[in-house]
Amino acid sequence: MKALVIGTGGREHALARALSLDPQVTEVHAAPGNPGIAAVATLHDVDPMNGSDVAALAEKLGVDLVVVGPEAPLVAGVADAVTERGIACFGPSAAAAQLEGSKAFAKDVMAAAGVPTAAARLCTTAGEATSALDEFGAPYVVKDDGLAAGKGVVVTSDRAAALAHAAACDRVVIEEYLDGPEVSLFAITDGFCVYPLQPAQDFKRIHDGDEGPNTGGMGAYTPLPWAPADLVDEVLTTVLQPTVDEMARRGTPFRGLLYVGLALTSRGVRVVEFNARFGDPETQPLLALLESPLSPLLLGAANGALVDVQPPVFRPGAAVAVVLASAGYPESSSKGDVITGLEAAEGLDGVHVIHAGTAEVDGDLVTAGGRVLAVVGTGADVGAARQAAYSGVDVIAFDGAQHRTDIAAGH
Ligand code: AMP
Ligand code: GLY
Repeated sequence: MKALVIGTGGREHALARALSLDPQVTEVHAAPGNPGIAAVATLHDVDPMNGSDVAALAEKLGVDLVVVGPEAPLVAGVADAVTERGIACFGPSAAAAQLEGSKAFAKDVMAAAGVPTAAARLCTTAGEATSALDEFGAPYVVKDDGLAAGKGVVVTSDRAAALAHAAACDRVVIEEYLDGPEVSLFAITDGFCVYPLQPAQDFKRIHDGDEGPNTGGMGAYTPLPWAPADLVDEVLTTVLQPTVDEMARRGTPFRGLLYVGLALTSRGVRVVEFNARFGDPETQPLLALLESPLSPLLLGAANGALVDVQPPVFRPGAAVAVVLASAGYPESSSKGDVITGLEAAEGLDGVHVIHAGTAEVDGDLVTAGGRVLAVVGTGADVGAARQAAYSGVDVIAFDGAQHRTDIAAGH
């Protein structure tokens, strides 16, 4: 079977790589891709936001499956355009992608489905924002209602900063603060049948010790040795299946990857957010450990026949991804800094490097975005995987490179 991956980032590289290692996949195509993806797929030039162009490319290539990686094309209806041409597409319709596209929509679905989440108020005026902040108290949680590439959420005890963020956004969701560790749980679904993957953890803040502003994610690991043994079953029963069922009941079944961000609070498991696509960088360690071939799961979900596919199986051991970000991230990002040491890193035992924001200029590999690379290490346990990942980080260099030194520390 032939597959086409849409997107340019680390998640898309990890997906294209896993598809290229799947014996059932004969051709992997990607658009627009990046230099890392070019090593495992044939690249094509397309605007990922243009559904009819993506569908036309898929038709021309004769692919059996299109995988839409990022949220913006999904919210814009790219999966709808592909499906309308009769081509299987992994990724939800625009209507279903509203689970990520609008925080207020997600809250409404959760309320209807009885899914545990933080109490929240949708605010459009300064007056509403002020009273919501007073109602919930500090620490304040203020979320831009729309897509914001992981940077739309401000969690702060500074009331003026909370109000300023609310004022800077059109519509905000202000909600109760959730304490406790966070877990990312992904599920592949065809709109009815739901297959959870194993839990992962993502490190959102830019600096060690969870200091500094939120980013798209500075590292991740899986599995979580400390997570309760029944966590996946509990979340399947209380969150995933009810949400998928509610979306089907509304006539907008969710087909694709349902990403649940959870807080394990002192009062129980609560949903922090939904995403409508694989998470980045959690996908990198998860796919590094996935033993099942990826294509039947994605195709089964796209075709509404997931129940006929074996549930995903993971290899024993652990995987850790450490992100190398460019100078200035997350406020800005530095482009064109020459990257060295990649081959040396990939030569290390249990290490591979995923490209998130790279480009090739005059034969040099250079930085081309905020998050540049994710160095993935695998090993017998989290400690060994972490050691492998950081051994790779140590030999890669570019001007202004930033990384956290505490990804998966202490496990
Ligand atoms: P979101 O985009 O909704 O995932 O929010 C980004 C990050 O902000 C989350 O991963 C949490 O670390 C933090 N966050 C979001 N909502 C809350 C909340 N209600 N309480 C505490 N932290 C939160
Ligand atoms: N790792 C966070 C995200 O993909 O949204």
